[in-house]
Amino acid sequence: MPERWTPDSWRAKPIQQVPDYPDLDALGVVEKQLSSFPPLVFAGEARSLKRHLARVAAGECFLLQGGDCAESFAEHGPDNIRDFFRVFLQMAVVLTYAAASPVVKVGRIAGQFAKPRSSPMETRSGVSLPSYRGDIVNDNEFTSAGRIPDPRRQLEAYRQSAATLNLLRAFAQGGYANLASVHQWMLGFLKDSPQSRRYMELADRIFEALGFMQACGLDLERHPELRTTELYTSHEALLLGYEQALTRVDSTTGDWYCTSGHMLWIGDRTRQLDHAHVEFLRGIKNPIGLKCGPSLKPDDLMRLIEILDPDDEPGRLTLIARMGADKVMDCLPPLVRAVKREKRRVIWSCDPMHGNTISTASGFKTRPFDRILDEVKGFFAVHAAEGTIAGGVHLEMTGQNVTECTGGARAITDQDLDSRYHTFCDPRLNAEQSIDLAFLLAEQLKQLRTAKAQPLPAVAGL
Ligand code: PEP
Ligand code: CO
Repeated sequence: MPERWTPDSWRAKPIQQVPDYPDLDALGVVEKQLSSFPPLVFAGEARSLKRHLARVAAGECFLLQGGDCAESFAEHGPDNIRDFFRVFLQMAVVLTYAAASPVVKVGRIAGQFAKPRSSPMETRSGVSLPSYRGDIVNDNEFTSAGRIPDPRRQLEAYRQSAATLNLLRAFAQGGYANLASVHQWMLGFLKDSPQSRRYMELADRIFEALGFMQACGLDLERHPELRTTELYTSHEALLLGYEQALTRVDSTTGDWYCTSGHMLWIGDRTRQLDHAHVEFLRGIKNPIGLKCGPSLKPDDLMRLIEILDPDDEPGRLTLIARMGADKVMDCLPPLVRAVKREKRRVIWSCDPMHGNTISTASGFKTRPFDRILDEVKGFFAVHAAEGTIAGGVHLEMTGQNVTECTGGARAITDQDLDSRYHTFCDPRLNAEQSIDLAFLLAEQLKQLRTAKAQPLPAVAGL
């Protein structure tokens, strides 16, 4: 019999990655204030995402999850949000059209502020200060004042999340996402790139198809699915005091939902079975994710699935594998087999970012685009071999023209990195690299579809 869950039952468990707040009374005041604020998302929306994800689990849709590694207060503005939304739509269109697969869109946005760190302290030129833990906790600037965790930042993160979500809802529902505007989503700085040509050709075909449907008498204006889209939000549920303050009972069902985002996930550093993060996430009804790194053992994964998804509810749990291109072929199959043996209906998604971070000679953290592609291909190959479903991807990306990951169509080199290296945390795919990746994904998905259409030879044991 599991112990009783309450929104604060995590507080009695051991916990990793907690900021050292100097003033606990001030923290308490902020958490109390947050708990009186309106929810950012509604339980009904989280349920609707869960229904979409259930279709991903069944292999009927593909999950596209992506956004900043860490959102920042300094970069909060309409252009950043719009550019991210545009590239995300473009990627979704590539996947939907080229692979004929409906796409469930989940942004790492409107709440992705708290960061786990490999070390609690950072040392520069002999000076040691607390590590930066995301704008919701402290300041990225390397000063002793800036690095002190300040609870009032949680109020700012809430405000920014609300404003971001408001604009995203307007973009998604207010006409911007109209499929007839498929050409206009192209970002100016991408105009002459090879990926943009490929994208524009695809946009032409969509446009023609819409024209054909209209000529056949279909009134496109009467089909909201062509004029609007659904974009859900997600973030790592790391700062549990903040998450608890936004956890509310849904009056329709009497269940607890965390209203800080539609989907929350547990990071690779905080997935200990008997610790606080697993305890908190098991009790909320949102769709949730679990990062699965190379150190995760099949037995522990199965125990985590039992705790987090005891009812084997489709759409509830997304396993986000982040192994690294060099490890995916060894580390992923044992996990996939264990899940398959128990017939658990989870989603497998691929995060090809976090296992492929390297440091350059000049000290930049980067990710070679080829390694990212290799991990994606490895992920698809493992699922093809196991007869399981490659359900989605989880990316760190931006709509901006940054130089953070090397490679891609413009062959960004180590030397190019410092020209537009803007991330507050990990290196992100830029807009062009993101579209490039979407085309590769579409090819992988198309192959799967063709393979599915052809009957498999009758082999004993299949
Ligand atoms: C992240 O998604 O930003 C992250 C820290 O990932 P992981 O927990 O997989 O390391
Ligand atoms: Co990251």
